[in-house]
Amino acid sequence: MNKLYIKITADLSNDAFIRSTVAAFCVELNPTVEQIEDIKTAVSEAFTNCVIHGYENSKGNYVYIDLCVDDGKLSIIISDGGKGIENVEKAMEPFFTTKPDEERSGMGFTLMKTFMDEMRVDSTPGKGTTVTMVKIIAKEVA
Ligand SMILES: Nc1ncnc2c1ncn2[C@@H]1O[C@H](COP(=O)(O)OP(=O)(O)O)[C@@H](O)[C@H]1O
Ligand SMILES: [Mg+2]
Repeated sequence: MNKLYIKITADLSNDAFIRSTVAAFCVELNPTVEQIEDIKTAVSEAFTNCVIHGYENSKGNYVYIDLCVDDGKLSIIISDGGKGIENVEKAMEPFFTTKPDEERSGMGFTLMKTFMDEMRVDSTPGKGTTVTMVKIIAKEVA
């Protein structure tokens, strides 16, 4: 088992760093190019959501990223201590966005769900949001 915990400034300029770091961290599982792209997209969607929605782009905040590689699987927990989500079920519907004016597509959660093997969202209004995702990379050796 291998673990990495990151606390990083909630700024969109950190998106590229986070994507690359998560990709580098799971390289030991020998992911395919497609699997790496799926993981990078999901991580990027979750991270940008924390910055844009959770903290509404305000300064002085952090995003927390907990990574674990174990048993052929990559687990990713991305959380913020921002405003939270009132109705998680509604927020997860395709094309639902609370920021249509900013050209948000409302497809972030849908992409995360599509590209990862497991995905769940826990949120408390006023406290923050946590997205937990799992990608199965290597099938178990019998
Ligand atoms: N970390 C978060 N904190 C608060 N609200 C969030 C967070 N992530 C997502 N949301 C809410 O869920 C909605 C849907 O998110 P998403 O599917 O990524 O679409 P988009 O980001 O394009 O709006 C957002 O519009 C927002 O209201
Ligand atoms: Mg989004």
